[in-house]
Amino acid sequence: MEQIGKQTKVVILTGAGISAESGIKTFRDNDGLWENHRIEDVATPQAWQRNPSLVWQFYQARRRQLTEVKPNPAHDALNELEQYLGDNFLLITQNVDDLHRRAGSSNIIHMHGELALLRCENCHEIFAMMEEHHLTDDYVECPNCDYDRLRPHIVWFHEVPLRLEEIYQAVEECDVFITIGTSGHVYPAAGLIDVAKSNGARCIGVNLEPPLNIDMHDEFYQGKAGEILPELVKKVVS
Ligand code: OAD
Repeated sequence: MEQIGKQTKVVILTGAGISAESGIKTFRDNDGLWENHRIEDVATPQAWQRNPSLVWQFYQARRRQLTEVKPNPAHDALNELEQYLGDNFLLITQNVDDLHRRAGSSNIIHMHGELALLRCENCHEIFAMMEEHHLTDDYVECPNCDYDRLRPHIVWFHEVPLRLEEIYQAVEECDVFITIGTSGHVYPAAGLIDVAKSNGARCIGVNLEPPLNIDMHDEFYQGKAGEILPELVKKVVS
């Protein structure tokens, strides 16, 4: 981290681990179950076709959970780093929660979508979810074309992540690439470090356990993001 100065282009990739200390469960530490569901029953387009009510209720529960959690010191540290680096900072997250934004970060790409957004499969418009919709398990009608059931604006398995062109360009151009709280299982996110490294970036990792792609990191800090990141960022900004 010592080599980061105001002119250093930094790209961050975060995963579920950064929100763990806020109380949101990660994906791969519960016998393959996500909040007691098999991923293929709730996070695939096939599941939405087969059992939309189960999928809808599952995401409504995730949205309600967001009202009970708050950003932790790791989210805050990334906001502090963005304040310092300005336009040289980009945060790519695989998380669908809004904790980075609530911590103050603004230059964010949610590559797997956002719980706070809904999308119409008929007219393809994207809508911010209204607060009154959080509490019920009723579907939300499209305000634009009246289609009766908006879907979560979430990238499910077998779907293509969002804004990939921008992501690859930023990763190719960065000087430092930092992965935080991600196990390195899910592609293409897990492969971004290969792109960064082959373009000469210094690669740094922070994770509770060694991720699958640990060998690609030049520096690796094992432990909790909420404890390690504030220390690392303090060294950069002070
Ligand atoms: P995973 O659940 O696969 O990995 C989370 C990682 O965070 C694990 O390696 C943990 O060791 C680590 N971890 C846990 N607590 C931590 C802490 N306090 N500090 C630092 N690290 C900690 O989550 P992701 O890698 O984000 O996709 O998973 C990638 C994608 O797979 C998700 O975006 C989601 C999922 O299925 C979709 O929903 C499309």
